[in-house]
Parts: sequence; structure tokens; C-alpha cells
Amino acid sequence: MRSVRRRSGARSFQGDDGLWSNCPAGGDSTMHITRRHLVAGAAAVAGVSAVKAQSLKVTSAQDLGPFYPIVRPADHDADLTRLKGSREVAIGQPIQVIGRIVDVGGQPISGATVDLWQANAVGRYDHPGDRANPAALDAHFQGFARLSSDQDGEFRFRSIKPAAYDTPIGTRTPHIHFAIDGLTERLVTQMYFPGEALNSSDPILNRAEHRAGLIAEAIDRLSADPQALAFRWTIVLVSG
Ligand SMILES: [Fe+2]
Repeated sequence: MRSVRRRSGARSFQGDDGLWSNCPAGGDSTMHITRRHLVAGAAAVAGVSAVKAQSLKVTSAQDLGPFYPIVRPADHDADLTRLKGSREVAIGQPIQVIGRIVDVGGQPISGATVDLWQANAVGRYDHPGDRANPAALDAHFQGFARLSSDQDGEFRFRSIKPAAYDTPIGTRTPHIHFAIDGLTERLVTQMYFPGEALNSSDPILNRAEHRAGLIAEAIDRLSADPQALAFRWTIVLVSG
């Protein structure tokens, strides 16, 4: 694990309480002040070290699941609600998700590849392995996207809220699957929605080491997409 970088700690030390601006001019006085500053500086450095020792919790890995696309769809852009060249829109509640990828020190990870895939609004995957599912396919739902994180570590997509579905191990609460390839590491995980009654019994969510980190935060609807529920989710990699 690489060292944690917290520039904010360094900034607060340098600008802390006018340490240097309060220095009176003069020899002995300067020496005295310098010693005091050394003590204060040591304390501040210790504080910075304490801050450095803190780190974000790494996002828990989750099952890849059986429905990762065998053949990646030609259309895999950030709007899953509409296929290129079609005027039709996928059925369901639109959602807008802002994701952000950081390392344990909170530094953004840019250039990561983000694959995401999900069930449609009635809990059906467009995948050969889900043919026995009686729920209907939605011919206008993209179901998969491949995105890239920007310089702030962010990626955004528009989709529809996936429905719950039954599995041999229990009912899956609504979720979206992710496979994230950073520069040096790969994370396969799942994002969940806040306030879902089925979250408390989901067999996959509840085996996560850091369960809370898998549940997105509901945020105000975005002006660019006022019809969609909006969510924000932070993904923490070890080093990116
Ligand atoms: Fe799933």
C-alpha cells in the first residue's frame, strides 16, 4: 500500500495560527521563538502523521455474478436508457449516478475503466443465463456500459432503477454490478440503493466486510436530469 497523501494537513500546518507571522525580530527572542516553534512544529507534524495514518475504508469486493455480458453490446455509452439510433426509451424509473473513484488517501483515480451491468426495471438481465427468468426483456434497455473516470476520478451515467429478483440463495435487492480496472488493481463489486427494504436481507450485500460503503447516497435531483432520481457513490481502491 502506498503512503497516504494528505496535502490538506500540510497546508494547515504551514498556515496554522500565524506561527511565522507572530515571530518577533531579534537574536535571543528569535532563538526562543524558534525552539517554541520546533515544539509546536513537532506537535503539528505528529498531527499530520495522525492524519496520514487515517485512511478511507477500501470498497468491499463482491461477486461478479453470472450475468457479466458474454458479448459486450456495441452501444455501451453512459446513457443506458436509450439505444443509439432509437427514439424509444427503456421502461422504468430513471436514475442518474455520479461515481467517484479514489485511493485510501482520498486522491482521485483518473483513467480507470468502469464496466457496469444491471437487471432491467422488472429484474431481468439480457443474458443467456437469465433465460429461465419469467420477467420480460426490455428491447430498449442498454443494460451495460463501459465508462472511464475523469481527472477528478468521476464518472456519470443515466440508467433505470433495477428491480429486485429471486435467486437460489435468496432475493437480491436492487443493485448494479461494477468491474473497475484502475492502473494497478481491479475491483469487482456491486452498488446498492439507500432505503431499500430488501437491503437488510440481501444475501450478497450482507456478507460485505464494509457494507455501508456499498450503498450509494441519495442526492438532490440534478438540474441536467430533473426526471431522474440521483445518487452519489464513492469507490475506494487501495492505491488505484
Ligand atoms: Fe445482479
